[in-house]
Amino acid sequence: MIIGHISDTHILAPASDHPAAQLRADCLRRCIADINRQQPDVVIFTGDTVQHGAPEEYAHLRELLAPLQAPLYLIPGNRDDNAALRSAFSDRPYLPEEGGFLHYVIDDHAIRLIAIDSTLPGERMGVFCPARQAWLEAALSDQPERPTMLFIHHPPFDIDDHYVGGYRRPEDASALAGVVSRHPQVKGLLCGHVHCVTERSWSGTVGCVMSSIAVDVRKDGGETEASGPLYLLHHVSGESGLLSRTRRAEHTR
Ligand SMILES: [Fe+2]
Repeated sequence: MIIGHISDTHILAPASDHPAAQLRADCLRRCIADINRQQPDVVIFTGDTVQHGAPEEYAHLRELLAPLQAPLYLIPGNRDDNAALRSAFSDRPYLPEEGGFLHYVIDDHAIRLIAIDSTLPGERMGVFCPARQAWLEAALSDQPERPTMLFIHHPPFDIDDHYVGGYRRPEDASALAGVVSRHPQVKGLLCGHVHCVTERSWSGTVGCVMSSIAVDVRKDGGETEASGPLYLLHHVSGESGLLSRTRRAEHTR
């Protein structure tokens, strides 16, 4: 199964006077066009979809995502507003209509997908409270034999020296590692938030971080707007686990 992975588009409203408003929209357009050419089985979107959580930003995001052909699964980042996101994408049956968290399980594909919500209103750092711990433990215990991929906005591990202690409470990140360590069917954890591509072994599996599609806020180093947006393609199987490739979107104009 091939999973397209996009993240951190930080889309602004069409009327925004932010200097990168048009650039960010173009970056996402280019990635969507390229993803359609690659034809992954699904696409996951690991949050920070818009910049301020505003309804007009979500309306713009919907318009930009409309050409995407593969099934799309969204989770919020700290820049998102869960109520506004839920409202804008109310036609997506997988998004829970009620409850405090936008987490869910997708059983429709060869690899089971579990989306984890690590956000808390007003909090930039990741959160994985006891209620979410219990939910994930139950979801993973439900089908222990099925190869599974997890996705979440905040990586629960440190990255170099620019992302250290990314959770509000260190015990939250430890709890997530603890739950995953009890479930060897987990083939990987896909994340965003840090705006650079990286990968590391974590809790008996692999943690893989996607950069920001918005090139003006990327932190990969040495990148320029001219180098263009990128996204990830994850090849996942029950036997071989996770193989991730970085794909640079081709120019379409
Ligand atoms: Fe972000």
